[in-house]
Amino acid sequence: MIVKNSNFVKSCIKTDDLPDSNLLEVAFAGRSNVGKSSLINALINRKNLARSGSKQGMTRLINYYDINGEIHFVDLPGYGYAKVSKSEMNLWGKVIENYLNVRQQLFLVMLLVDIRHEPTEADKMLYEWTKAAGLNYIVVATKSDKLSRSQVNLNLRVISEKLGLPEGRKVFPVSAETKRGIPELWDEIDSFIMEDGENGD
Ligand code: GTP
Ligand code: MG
Repeated sequence: MIVKNSNFVKSCIKTDDLPDSNLLEVAFAGRSNVGKSSLINALINRKNLARSGSKQGMTRLINYYDINGEIHFVDLPGYGYAKVSKSEMNLWGKVIENYLNVRQQLFLVMLLVDIRHEPTEADKMLYEWTKAAGLNYIVVATKSDKLSRSQVNLNLRVISEKLGLPEGRKVFPVSAETKRGIPELWDEIDSFIMEDGENGD
C-alpha cells in the first residue's frame, strides 16, 4: 500500500469506545517500549503521528490511525511496564484479549518482540491469544539496528523457537530508526490485505 494520507482518529479506553467503522484493522501489539508507535510511524512515513518516546508506558490507550481512508492501524497499549500495578496489568490483559476476540474488523495482528531479547511469558501469551482467536499475524522483531547482521539472524531463530512458531513461519526484522525491513514488512501486510479482499467478508 502506498500511504498517501494518515490521520489520528481517536483514543479509546475500553472496547466499548472503539470506532463505529467497517474499515479493516491492523493491530500492533507487544510489550511496553518494544517500538509499536515507532513502527507505525515508520510504516506511514511520519515522524511522530503515533506518539513514541523513551518514557515507558507512553501508549496507555487504544489509538486509531486512518490510512488512506482504507484501513485502520491500531496502536495497542504495551504490557509488562514495570511500574504498573497488578490490577492494572490484569485490566490490560482483559482489554487486549477482549479486543482480539470481539473485534470483527480486526484481520491482522502485528506481534512485536525486541530482537535483542528472548520472548517473555507475556509475549507468548499474546501469541497464544492471537492464534486462539483465529487471527492472521506477523511476528516482527524490532530495533534490528542495535545488532550486527549475523547476530540478527541468530536472534531471529531464537525468537522463532521460543515462541514455538510453525515451521517456515518468518520473523520480520525491522528498524524504525534506519527503516531497514520496512518495505518487506509492507509487502507482507499487503499480501494479507489482498487475501482478505479476495475472500470477501
Ligand atoms: P509504549 O507506548 O510504552 O507501549 O511503547 P512503544 O512500544 O510504542 O515504543 P516506542 O515506539 O515509544 O519506542 C520506545 C523507545 O524505543 C523510543 O525511545 C524509541 O525511539 C526506541 N525505538 C523504537 N524503535 C526503534 C528502532 O527500530 N531502533 C532503535 N534504535 N530504537 C527504537
Ligand atoms: Mg506507544
